[in-house]
Amino acid sequence: MQNIMIKRPIIAPSLLSADFLNLGEEIENLNNSGIDWLHFDVMDGHFVPNLTFGPMILAQIRQKTKLYLDVHLMVENAAQYIEPFVKAGADALSFHIENNPHIHKNIMEVKSHNKKAGVVINPGTSICALEGILPFVDHVLFMSVNPGFGGQKFIPETLQKVCALREIIQKNGYKITMIIDGGINEATALDALRAGIDGLVIGNAFFKHPLKKYDKICTHYKSLKYEAESN
Ligand code: DX5
Ligand code: ZN
Repeated sequence: MQNIMIKRPIIAPSLLSADFLNLGEEIENLNNSGIDWLHFDVMDGHFVPNLTFGPMILAQIRQKTKLYLDVHLMVENAAQYIEPFVKAGADALSFHIENNPHIHKNIMEVKSHNKKAGVVINPGTSICALEGILPFVDHVLFMSVNPGFGGQKFIPETLQKVCALREIIQKNGYKITMIIDGGINEATALDALRAGIDGLVIGNAFFKHPLKKYDKICTHYKSLKYEAESN
């Protein structure tokens, strides 16, 4: 009998789309849903034109969950937030390449705390910009919308970059997890998985999914990889 390895995607709901009036209940439901990561979008109103939440909220969430807390920093001066988020209980911190001349220093600082470190790339940024930092990162997060808001339309050209980076990663033997963020739904998730993405950040299409129950929604998205491989 042939052994077929089926790789399931990492499912990372984006907290940005959660119901903040019932946050405790949301976290409880997520805990029991089978999701892998909880994606935590930090916006400062400067790097992106929106404001969200910071380490204080993450620390409270940490008290209620063992989930892998994946922090996406959409801020100026990201370095100043490393220690506060590590102390608050983050598992991973990712930095945009576009506004960060000291990204290597930041990545190494995160790793010195035994946390995972990632780099984020906007739709308009070439993967050439990542070349110098790839040997040091655990995650690459591809923005498939311009960062700042949930519920935007997926930019399909992102997938060309995903394919190209997958080849570079394979060629060099890097151990990097590739995640996509923005406009992910069933259709775009499948395209992204076919392009070689390992994980899906899902905001609106998770929290507002007609299946309603988070465990069902999670299983639904996890099964997409199987379809991708069986085609
Ligand atoms: C956008 C954020 C995303 C956002 C995704 O700047 O980085 O994580 O929450 O939301 P959807 O899936 O609704 O596009
Ligand atoms: Zn994000």
